[in-house]
Amino acid sequence: MSDTYDLVIIGGGPGGYNCAIRAGQLGLKVACVETRKTLGGTCLNVGCIPSKALLHATEMYEAAEKDFAGLGIDATVKLNLPNMMASKDKTVGQLTQGIAYLFKKNKVDHIEGFGKIIDAGTVDVDGKKIKTKNIVIATGSEVATLPGIDIDEERIVSSTGALELSKVPGKMIVIGGGVIGLELGSVWRRLGAEVTVVEYLDHILPGMDAEVQKVALRTFKKQKMKFKLGHKVTGVEKMKSKLKVSIEPSKGGDVDTMDADVVLVCIGRRPFTQGLGLEAAGVSMDKRGFIETNHFKTNVSGIWAVGDCTTGPMLAHKAEEEAVAVAESIAGKVGHVNYDVIPGVVYTKPEVAIVGKTEDELKAAGIPYKSGKFSFIANSRAKANHETDGFVKILAHAETDEILGAHMIGPMVGEMIQEMCVAMEFRASSEDIARTCHAHPTLSEAVRQAAMGVEGWTMQS
Ligand code: FAD
Ligand code: NAI
Repeated sequence: MSDTYDLVIIGGGPGGYNCAIRAGQLGLKVACVETRKTLGGTCLNVGCIPSKALLHATEMYEAAEKDFAGLGIDATVKLNLPNMMASKDKTVGQLTQGIAYLFKKNKVDHIEGFGKIIDAGTVDVDGKKIKTKNIVIATGSEVATLPGIDIDEERIVSSTGALELSKVPGKMIVIGGGVIGLELGSVWRRLGAEVTVVEYLDHILPGMDAEVQKVALRTFKKQKMKFKLGHKVTGVEKMKSKLKVSIEPSKGGDVDTMDADVVLVCIGRRPFTQGLGLEAAGVSMDKRGFIETNHFKTNVSGIWAVGDCTTGPMLAHKAEEEAVAVAESIAGKVGHVNYDVIPGVVYTKPEVAIVGKTEDELKAAGIPYKSGKFSFIANSRAKANHETDGFVKILAHAETDEILGAHMIGPMVGEMIQEMCVAMEFRASSEDIARTCHAHPTLSEAVRQAAMGVEGWTMQS
């Protein structure tokens, strides 16, 4: 292993490993430094993948328990939590090993250890100095904490602990009605926990389309998830067997207490740059600790940054887009990310999927728009599958008809949103979608019908 590299990447998550592989493909001499034993970062080890594995398994469990009989399938269902966890761990293991294989295939050196920037040409890994022409910081994020509420990953857990519980809690209190709260809250509710989500705002899923927020809340309530909106948790006291959770209205008022077996803290994540030597190297960060970049370049020549440690949505595919673009930029190509077309998906049942602007954002920006909406209740495939909750909404420019946003809640919308991403990437009009033949009967016909609705010729009563 040579000590002089074209590129050293610090962090082996989606930002780091995609950058390393692309740089390897482009012929750069590249190394990726990662503290974890396995590659893949938060996403593969303790984020996207284990959470989706548990969401899938618990969705199957709940379907077998509650829905099979209605389809004429009589089954006796019994939860085997250790096996469910083992299945999740197996998936994680296979995927992290897959990254290690891709590193070898693309001649990327994987250096295990903690990376610290000495200067723009030197990275220290546990005392060993590595020389490089470029550094990409891809150190990701960590869970944001609440003062006085100490995460022990057993009874007071972050998402990491919530992916590893050894038994189903009787009562779980989830602090934060965002993506993690709803996904992991759904996992444990499906397995039998009484889940109460305490959310500071008066709605869940902040930043999303207001109608999506309302339908999501109504549907999760129907599934017996409880909500305390407009409230905050002010303390968690550890009793012998229970947790005593203090809750008060966000705007102030009387304190209430609730019992819980497990409290899940998921109030957002913050950039992780601890011990990286950024101050000494002179790399600028904003007030919230995000590394400031311009086309992935930091203010220090030769030091670049991508992914969760920079501003923008904290999503694996955003990190991946930036990772490829920064590798291409370093290799002398034109790396590019279209930040207007970064989808977001919440993998609950029903799923939530969004891309582009919301109605509120268009109104605030003074952009004239038309909208078309189609409910799954009138979609034949959704009817056949007994999954009729939700809708597809498409927003298009009032004059040019260019698609500006799509907002969906319903079955498989996490897959269906990709059609809208491709359309937006090609700057398609709603009429382009409305006049594209979609197979019947498919859930995707709801997308076409919503597009038809923009011009007022949807076929829904
Ligand atoms: P990370 O994946 O956090 O990787 C950074 C890596 O850098 C880590 O492995 C860390 O160990 C390493 N590191 C840090 N400092 C150093 C150092 N000094 N030296 C060496 N190594 C270092 N996003 C989605 O798009 N879809 C999802 O479904 C989804 N689900 C999620 C579920 C959960 C429970 C969580 C917590 C997150 C989820 N996310 C999801 C978000 C996603 O995981 C992140 O956006 C993504 O991992 C960011 O990639 P990254 O490479 O920037 O950082
Ligand atoms: P989030 O930002 O999605 O939600 C946090 C929620 O907590 C917000 O609704 C906020 O109003 C609320 N909140 C903040 N302070 C509070 C307080 N004191 N009391 C009560 N509520 C409070 O963050 P979350 O769910 O922790 O997820 C972190 C990141 O991980 C997100 O940025 C997300 O992008 C990413 N992620 C993505 C997933 C996906 O793409 N499917 C899945 C899981 C995580």
